[in-house]
Formats: sequence, structure tokens, C-alpha cells
Amino acid sequence: MINVDISNIWGSVSLPDLLALEKEVSAAHAALTDGTGIGSDYLGWRDLPTAEPTQELERIRKAAERIRTDSHVCVVVGIGGSYLGSRAAIELLQGANRNVGKGKGDPQIFFAGNSLSTRHWNELMHLLEGKDFSVIVISKSGTTTEPAIAFRALKWMLERKYGTDEANRRIYAITDPVSGALHQMAEENRWESFVIPPNVGGRFSVLTPVGLLPMAVAGIDITEVLQGAAEAKEAYNNLRSFENPVWLYAAVRNLMYRSGKAVEILESFEPGFRMFGAWWQQLFGESEGKDGKGLFPVTAEFTADLHSLGQLIQQGERNIFETMLRFDAPEQKCTIGSDVNDLDGLNYLTGKTLDFVDEQAYLGTLAAHVDGGVPVVTMDCGELNARKMGELFYFFQLSCGVSAYTLGVNPFNQPGVEFYKRNMFQLLGKPGYES
Ligand code: PA5
Repeated sequence: MINVDISNIWGSVSLPDLLALEKEVSAAHAALTDGTGIGSDYLGWRDLPTAEPTQELERIRKAAERIRTDSHVCVVVGIGGSYLGSRAAIELLQGANRNVGKGKGDPQIFFAGNSLSTRHWNELMHLLEGKDFSVIVISKSGTTTEPAIAFRALKWMLERKYGTDEANRRIYAITDPVSGALHQMAEENRWESFVIPPNVGGRFSVLTPVGLLPMAVAGIDITEVLQGAAEAKEAYNNLRSFENPVWLYAAVRNLMYRSGKAVEILESFEPGFRMFGAWWQQLFGESEGKDGKGLFPVTAEFTADLHSLGQLIQQGERNIFETMLRFDAPEQKCTIGSDVNDLDGLNYLTGKTLDFVDEQAYLGTLAAHVDGGVPVVTMDCGELNARKMGELFYFFQLSCGVSAYTLGVNPFNQPGVEFYKRNMFQLLGKPGYES
């Protein structure tokens, strides 16, 4: 289990206040498990770790193997919940630079359709030059503008490069089982297709083919991911008290919010963490930010961001709290060597490992921020591997559901996202949006 340590929050809130929240958190968790809360049509994610049929998992593995065999590059097209989870897992487990030096047998993975940037598109075109590639297109609705534009162009490129039949063999669609433009295109062109269950919302879909197929293409053991999530489902649902780290995290978030903290910063000391932070940010931001409520979720990567956000965290407005994730150090160590001249003054660290320095940076940061009046929740996550990835996904999804119900909002809708789309469609002259 992830160990949630709240010993560094007491400067701002009190134990009786926390204990007073136990009933609300308990009710929120019960509403989630019994399906009696608002938005209960979208609770399919709760059972995903054990829901995917074995044949379907085998089909995902086979599709991934085919892509690994016949492609230098796999382009994953999708936005929001349709790409953040897989990218989070790939970068946290394999590093943000994993594409360097990859090719057939272990393809590079690029993400497209998550912006409308011409620069980003031109860069992708350049990266695809002379490469064999396949496309995984992911859209639950099948109509989202950004991925639809990118996919139209990539499909055309595949057809031009390989001809229609081979292009169709290189397209993998993940979408709604019955409706939407992508579903229809997939049927008509006989693309290998996978389903996003109707009762699973986009940002809760990482443990469906949405997350599993790109992870498998990256060479991540998806059985281990699902096993980690299954163990989390069991462990975090069965414990109904503040001994449950999910309860503790959900309660502290609500307590912080009620005591005037407006911003939560989720942090790790791993550079590969940025996209996991982005996944978490969408999960909590889109689930809780409604009805005039919600913590503003921000992510940071230390120590890099100590040199950008560190000043603000230390001495800026006291409306923030931090959640720091820690992972066990890897087995392979890096030791700092000595230098005859010692002009950089680092000889005092000779023989020390980089992990040791990182640990002191963590402890020093924790103490400084707590002294500066910022409550810090720490999460000891243990070893970082595929199984842990599954646990982390499930832990945060369950925490999000419990936290949002405690806040009193529906975690499973996103009505606000439609406003920008409506304006954009009107400006673009999309039929039906003229006035
Ligand atoms: O969580 C959500 O529902 C959203 O973030 C969606 O994932 C995102 O808008 C993409 O939608 P779609 O998969 O329908 O293209």
C-alpha cells in the first residue's frame, strides 16, 4: 500500500477537524461502491482491473506485438483522457527520453492530436520521414476536433505510403462500442478495434485498451499493471477507516480546501513524472472543478522546479499545500567521484551516491516548506515498476471519486469543457453552430 504521511500538515489544520470529516469520507466511499452517488452511470472504472476478458487482453498483446514488429514509430492520436494515462505510464517507467535510439522491435511512440499546433504537426511529419509507422487512434466520442484533424491527415499519409489495404492494417481504433464517427469508420474499413466501455469516462479509462495498448507497444507488462490495480482495488476498498490511505488523502484534500488552501501541488523528484502529473491534474481538475468549487491542481518536478516554483512555494501566498510522492531508489547506483583540483568544491561528496544527495534534497525541501507554512502530505510509493503503476492509477482514481463526493460534486461529468468548443465551432462555421 502507498503510505500516506500527514505528520507535516498540523501547522494549518487540527486533528479534531480531520476526525470530524471521517463520516463524510465514509459516506462518500460507500456512495461510490454502492453506486448511489451522483454520476453513477460512469462507475465502470471501479472494476476494470479484473474486468478485461482474457481474449481481449490477448488481442491487445498481439496488436502491440504486430506494431512492434512492423513499425519504427507508433503514433498515438488522442487528447485528454485518451492519451494522458498511457503517456504517464510510459514516461514514468521508461523515462521522458525513451524514444531516443528506438526503432523496429521497440518503436518510438509519439503522441498527436492533443493540440492544434502547426509547429507540433510539422515536427511530427519530420519525425515520420522514411519511417514505417502505425497509428492508434483513440476517441471515446469519436468526434473530438483535435484528434479527428490529426487522424484524417495520418490516415491519408498511411494510404499514400502503403496503399489502402496495408494502411487499414496499420490503423488501430479505440472507441465507443456502438456509436460515433470513429466507430463507424472502424467498421467500414475493418480496422482492428478495441472498445471503451460506455460506463467509463475518458479520464478514468487508463486501464481499458486506451491505456493498455500504447503501454503494451512500449513493452510494458500490462498483466503486471492490471495486477497492481487489482490488488489496489482489493486493498483500498476493503479498509473502511482512516487507516485507508485513500480516505486519508481524500479527507486531507477537503480539509485543506475548507481551510482556505486553493492550490494542491503534486510533486515528485523524478523527471519522468511530468506526464503522470498531467494525468493526475486532468483527473482531479476535470472531476472536481465545477459548481464554483475545487482545488486547483498543479504539478511540479523537483529538484528542477525548486529553481522556478521554489521561491513562490517558500514565501508566496500561503494558499497552497503539497503532496510529495517518493519512490525507492533504483538498484543501479551512481557514485560521485573525486577531482584533484576540486575547483567545483564537490569533493566533500566524494563516494556518496546520487540517491543520497537526492534524499537530502528531499528532506531539506520538506523541512523548508513546512517551516515556510506550507502543509506537506508525503506518499511513500515503494518500488517503481509496472505493478506500482497500476496501483497508482487505481489509488488516485478511487481517491478522486471519494474526494469529489466529499466535496459534493459529480466527478464524472465535464459540462464546462463544452463552452470553448461551442465558441470554436461557431467561429469555424461548423454546421449547426451558426448562431
Ligand atoms: O475525461 C474526459 O472525458 C475528457 O478528457 C476526454 O477524455 C477528452 O475530452 C477526449 O475525448 P474523446 O475521447 O471523446 O475524444
